[in-house]
Amino acid sequence: MNHPEPKPTLLDELEEISDVPTLPHVATQLITLLDDPDVSFKRVATLIEEDPPLVAKILKLINSGYYHLAKEIRDVKQAIVYLGLDEIRNLVFAMSVYSTFYNVKRSEYFDYSQFWVHSAGTAKMAMVLSKYLKMSSYSSTYIAGLLHDFGRLVLQFFFSEQYQKVFQKSMEENVPLIVAERNELGLTHAQVGFWLAERWGLPESIALVMLNHHEVTEKDLEQNPLLALVHFANTITNIWGATLEPNPPSMGLDEDPLWLEFCQLHPDLRALPMLEMLQVFDMHLEEAESFVEKMEQIKKITD
Ligand SMILES: [Fe+2]
Ligand SMILES: [Fe+2]
Repeated sequence: MNHPEPKPTLLDELEEISDVPTLPHVATQLITLLDDPDVSFKRVATLIEEDPPLVAKILKLINSGYYHLAKEIRDVKQAIVYLGLDEIRNLVFAMSVYSTFYNVKRSEYFDYSQFWVHSAGTAKMAMVLSKYLKMSSYSSTYIAGLLHDFGRLVLQFFFSEQYQKVFQKSMEENVPLIVAERNELGLTHAQVGFWLAERWGLPESIALVMLNHHEVTEKDLEQNPLLALVHFANTITNIWGATLEPNPPSMGLDEDPLWLEFCQLHPDLRALPMLEMLQVFDMHLEEAESFVEKMEQIKKITD
């Protein structure tokens, strides 16, 4: 009996594509330094200084008023002294990956700035949560938050027409975007994100956040805090309004059983009044919004 050839899946098609954007050298190096607790100030500064156009952009952003610094910062070492190693590392990482898919097609449903506010917002929010929960040892939190939806960027970059239909279906059928992806494309941005993570050689912990951030279980809340952090940061950023979802969620955080369970596990979070918590979230998400605006302006000036 003749078996029909299986239809190539989108992943097969992706495998055939040779011009997938690569992860910039600085970003790759910063990731390799993540798990090194003794990483020195000098090492990070030297690494960043290897890329003078990037240094110019970073100094422009730092001196743009975004950080409200009283004095002008003239070099990377000074920037690290004033803003701290973590802040500079996250900033450099974000600026270096901002351009990777910059030529992605903009469309009615896909707004690049909105995508970035969602990504930077999720990254920032994951950091804020990790600090509340005194989990600051997760140095990859920001990067995992920033990259969690990069599968969407890949889908829009290589399959923008098909992806447009996914947005339309999500809208018409009032289903989350990920459900429409599965129905229309046979795979999700989470799977595509995992594919990209493997291609880019990202650490497994980040790759798994890209794969599983929509499928968090009660068990993960204790066993997989990085995944839980990005999952909730994503939810909060969506509720706040920085979302690609054509039908943004109407549910409040305090109606999410998983979040309530998470609060039960973390007394620091439980002790915080909801209103106060929301104000803190609001402030940080506005910061992420202005960060993306500034990155865009600086890209236009320096490129
Ligand atoms: Fe997602
Ligand atoms: Fe997301």
